[in-house]
Amino acid sequence: MVSVRTPSTSAWWPKSRRRIRAKAVRKGQIRCLCSERKRSRPFPRLCPTVVGYGLYFFTYSTWKGRNIYMEDLYVRPEFRGQGIGKKLMSRIAQMGVEKGCTQMKFSVLDWNRPAVDFYRSKGAVDLTAAEDWHVFRFEADALRRLALGEPGE
Ligand SMILES: CC(C)(COP(=O)(O)OP(=O)(O)OC[C@H]1O[C@@H](n2cnc3c(N)ncnc32)[C@H](O)[C@@H]1OP(=O)(O)O)[C@@H](O)C(=O)NCCC(=O)NCCS
Repeated sequence: MVSVRTPSTSAWWPKSRRRIRAKAVRKGQIRCLCSERKRSRPFPRLCPTVVGYGLYFFTYSTWKGRNIYMEDLYVRPEFRGQGIGKKLMSRIAQMGVEKGCTQMKFSVLDWNRPAVDFYRSKGAVDLTAAEDWHVFRFEADALRRLALGEPGE
């Protein structure tokens, strides 16, 4: 039996980026839902096993108003294909709908075909293919130069 809830500890974060994610959740910069499966023993109530998580935050579109952004969706490999990713994503969508959002956005790398297929199978539209949107970002140096009013390279 797998439940989806806001996590009470940060001990379960996958090792890479653990501190960044846990801090962001604690500070309220990002929200988190996790999927937990109860351990059968030795302490079933005290030791739930986290099998997946989703991170999200709210954003704004001048056209559509409040939006929800899914920053991360992850299910541990040994638990994939059991409906856990779908359940997590559905709960994130619920959070958005409850707050009046009309869109949920996220990015996925082109090489990640299983994830691309998963999102498509749930009805997501690929905005690069459909509308030619390109995702940009300023990396740290470029961001600093921009903030200082210096020319880009
Ligand atoms: C992508 C990911 C979250 C999916 O989670 P999951 O728990 O394995 O997926 P589910 O078992 O919930 O799949 C649910 C549905 O999606 C479908 N689905 C899952 N993977 C699919 C795939 N590769 N192609 C097509 N459909 C797929 C299932 O058939 C199922 O369909 P149904 O609702 O009609 O029964 C998981 O594979 C994962 O963590 N991948 C690594 C991290 C990652 O790449 N995250 C996305 C980064 S953008």
